[in-house]
Amino acid sequence: MIWRPFTQEKTTPPPVKITKGEGAYLFAENGDKYVDMISSWFVNLHGHANPEMAEVISHQARTLEHVIFTKFTHEPAEKLVEGLKHIVPPELNRYFFSDNGSTAVEVALKMAFQYFINIGEENRNVFLSLEGGYYGDTFGAMSVSGVNSKYHATFSDLFFKTLMIDVPEYYDGVESIEEKENDIIDDLEKKLKSVGNRICALILEPLLQGSFGMRLYRPEFLERLVNKVKEYGILVIFDEVLTGFFRTGKMFALEHTNVLPDFICLSKGLTGGFLPLALTIASDKIYNAFLSGDKKKTFLHGHSYTANPIACAAACKSLEILLRQETVDRIGAISQFHRCHSIPRAAKRRSIGAVTAFDANSEDAANHVINKAWENGIFLRPLGRTLYLFPPYCVSDEDLSRTYDIINKFL
Ligand SMILES: Cc1ncc(COP(=O)(O)O)c(C=O)c1O
Repeated sequence: MIWRPFTQEKTTPPPVKITKGEGAYLFAENGDKYVDMISSWFVNLHGHANPEMAEVISHQARTLEHVIFTKFTHEPAEKLVEGLKHIVPPELNRYFFSDNGSTAVEVALKMAFQYFINIGEENRNVFLSLEGGYYGDTFGAMSVSGVNSKYHATFSDLFFKTLMIDVPEYYDGVESIEEKENDIIDDLEKKLKSVGNRICALILEPLLQGSFGMRLYRPEFLERLVNKVKEYGILVIFDEVLTGFFRTGKMFALEHTNVLPDFICLSKGLTGGFLPLALTIASDKIYNAFLSGDKKKTFLHGHSYTANPIACAAACKSLEILLRQETVDRIGAISQFHRCHSIPRAAKRRSIGAVTAFDANSEDAANHVINKAWENGIFLRPLGRTLYLFPPYCVSDEDLSRTYDIINKFL
């Protein structure tokens, strides 16, 4: 029997068998059709079973399916790095491959920690993170999500030490945001004065905390945070696993700001949602600290499927489709759609780029909307009492419109 992720098997109904995907739609075995309004856990960019993607994947599988990525390299990985170089800030130019968002984060955490050991600052063994962050389900990722994480608290005895910073939540009509931001920066300053030289890295999801509840904060706050921790020699990791590839309206969320991290983590949309692949991209400063005749300074980390050629070929194609004017225009149109459509009964409405979210009065109210949407052929998934739209970029205006109508009718 299959054991599903994030599912209480005792109380959750059996899964729906999906036999086919096409564009924004999923087709069930019984003939029902659903709009995938959450991009199947935030991964799908260009639609399900996209024929162009399927073609390159099939071609690559017939050419070279996989090879160990230590002694060998291959064209799909090199082509992908070449392509990404045009869109990733040039200061971040060392590309380390892995398989999923959690491993991209583990790699960044381990690199940050070992960086300080390699340069002889061995007392930096504390991380800094934002309250409500979600970075994946492996132990490092859980540790920086923190003991208050709604997903990971069970394992908190096993976490490594992480200090938490509050998040000045931003939404339509929010009041006194600057005051809240000032208070949090003051609190941070106090923490840094006492233990700043023990902290190895700050990790955060830039501007949009996804899995906690699609919570936004302002670029101004992010800039202050990053500039402040840099005064204490702390490294900065931007987890763009969810925010990357135009979800926030820019290729990467970091482009909304004037600050740069030392690492960015990418996954999810990297292959357009077709295959698991991830990247941790670091600066030369980090990379150079691992170059040594001393073997102990090597980064001893790797996965069997590192830089899988089929996944890399899919990522190259996805990037090509993403950069087409018609895709960029479509992402702009979805963003505009969110801005122009109100949800009068929603609390804390917030939108950024192609993502919009709001809170219902209660979890029951959120579930009521989800169920009604499902009956009407729209697949949504709540985060507590938060509802959000996070569609593939090929979603039609008609399907967006229908979704807004249903939300407004049943909320
Ligand atoms: C910001 C962020 N980082 C990391 C992850 C973990 O990615 P994965 O589920 O591929 O391990 C997620 C997953 O939702 C995420 O949203």
